[in-house]
Amino acid sequence: KRRAQEADVAEPRNKLARPALSLPTDPALYSGPFPFYRRPSELGCFSLDAQRQYHGDAHALRYYSPPPTYGQGPKFDLRDGYPDRYQPRDEEVREGLDHLLRWLLDHRGQLEGGPGWLAGAIVTWRGHLTKLLTTPYEQQEGWQLAASRFQGTLYLSEVETPAARAQRLARSPLLRELMYMGYKFEQYMCADKPESSPDPSGDVNTNVAFCSVLRSRLGNHPLLFSGEVDCTDPQAPSTQPPTCYVELKTAKEMHRPGHWRSFYRHKLLKWWAQSFLLGVPNVVAGFRNPEGFVCSLKTFPTMEMFEYVRNDRDGWNPSVCMNFCAAFLSFAQNTVVQDDPRLVHLFSWEPGSPVTVSKHQDAPYAFLPTWYVEAMTQ
Ligand code: A3P
Ligand code: MG
Ligand code: MG
Repeated sequence: KRRAQEADVAEPRNKLARPALSLPTDPALYSGPFPFYRRPSELGCFSLDAQRQYHGDAHALRYYSPPPTYGQGPKFDLRDGYPDRYQPRDEEVREGLDHLLRWLLDHRGQLEGGPGWLAGAIVTWRGHLTKLLTTPYEQQEGWQLAASRFQGTLYLSEVETPAARAQRLARSPLLRELMYMGYKFEQYMCADKPESSPDPSGDVNTNVAFCSVLRSRLGNHPLLFSGEVDCTDPQAPSTQPPTCYVELKTAKEMHRPGHWRSFYRHKLLKWWAQSFLLGVPNVVAGFRNPEGFVCSLKTFPTMEMFEYVRNDRDGWNPSVCMNFCAAFLSFAQNTVVQDDPRLVHLFSWEPGSPVTVSKHQDAPYAFLPTWYVEAMTQ
């Protein structure tokens, strides 16, 4: 039986060692002890405005402002304002790593970790790492990650699979409204200023985003990644990011033990992976009834999520998620040997199969923009 470690044999990068051709994803191969994961520290942040323009500041950060806990519970109508007060982001625009690269370009001179830290790091979106973490348990959606090495650094940028694109273009009216409802919940729970209250009368514009940029390390892989943050809690015990951040989520109201079980096995895994990577300590869930109203809230501490599936044979295991991610990063580091911003190794995965690789030059897969490559070459 092949063991997870075998994918690591080409470490360190060595032109004589032949990298593996594929990487298996079976959970049983990754059930070792939990690997080292450095406590993520925030290096900086940026905001995207209503026109999706980049700003090197925190103006889009919102403040956690839950309803009072006394009296009746909330009655948030998540369908209110749909579709007339909805300004959805144009999903045809492929942004790749652009916003993160803009931040990196502006701050490359001030990075901690010493000279050469960036050259040994992996740069990507938190959302891409989330997909890697959940891969051993994912049975529905595959992914593709494009990888390029430039000045030593390994950049990873997701490519929309043909199946995902087809699904997006065929998204049903019901699903579109459900997407809106997730953002509408944020509007009911967040204020624009720490001392003010939520204002659900305005538009829901999904171009707006606050992104935190963090440094971490998984095993021997230094990481620099960015992730969208829903809000900060002005009353959090520590005001230091990312520990003051709060992730907001909606889920269906559940009434039978079987519904909760399934929620713990599937949704909670994704919530855990997303928030654990960034170091967000709490996820606040709003449960919506069939009429689209949130009438109850529940806080799930990220570090307690695994307890819901610890004794479940069909549950997930954080060690498996992190060990697989580490194995994938080693696999990618060993595969992408040539330093060339126009060369792309495309890692592809479909449920039930191993991760495979193909090699491409320039368009359509190259993703490091000329403005970035030229500025970094100065
Ligand atoms: P939910 O929180 O209710 O899932 P996030 O939770 O990551 O902050 O995202 C906010 C909302 O964006 C989600 O609300 C959901 O409505 C929408 N969303 C995020 N990822 C999505 C995806 N992969 N497909 C569809 N909608 C998504
Ligand atoms: Mg969000
Ligand atoms: Mg959220």
